[in-house]
Amino acid sequence: MEDLKVAVGSDHGGFRYKEQIIEYLKSRNIPYFDVGTHTPEACDYPIIARKVAELVISGQANRGILVCGTGIGMSIAANKVKGIRAALCGDTYSARVSRAHNNSNILCLGERVIGEHLALDIVDIWLKTGFEGGRHKRRVDLIE
Ligand code: RB5
Repeated sequence: MEDLKVAVGSDHGGFRYKEQIIEYLKSRNIPYFDVGTHTPEACDYPIIARKVAELVISGQANRGILVCGTGIGMSIAANKVKGIRAALCGDTYSARVSRAHNNSNILCLGERVIGEHLALDIVDIWLKTGFEGGRHKRRVDLIE
């Protein structure tokens, strides 16, 4: 696994999974930033998405994980930031290929959509998978 530093954030809809993802990162000694939210009270996901995206773009983190109710709002918001390739994943195949082919730098998850064990499997595979480069690099470069 590359040297990881992961920025993690959620709104209230993804708060419980964010806490579990942080436990996962701690248990594997993976450094992380927790940008919040820090309580289950309602808050606005675009603000959290922006904080995680900026940590990734600035290089302070090399990956980001965002959780909201569906993962959709987070992915739309994060992908507004130039250089962010946020992938909303509800299965492990998409998570793996979003890294191998798309070089996704933010993973988005929907707490109200997928179960917690699947969510953590997706996180595990997404963090462990590298970018294949080659023809995929040309395509990612075209996006940028
Ligand atoms: C919050 O109710 C919900 O809209 C949010 O978590 C997310 O699903 C937005 O895309």
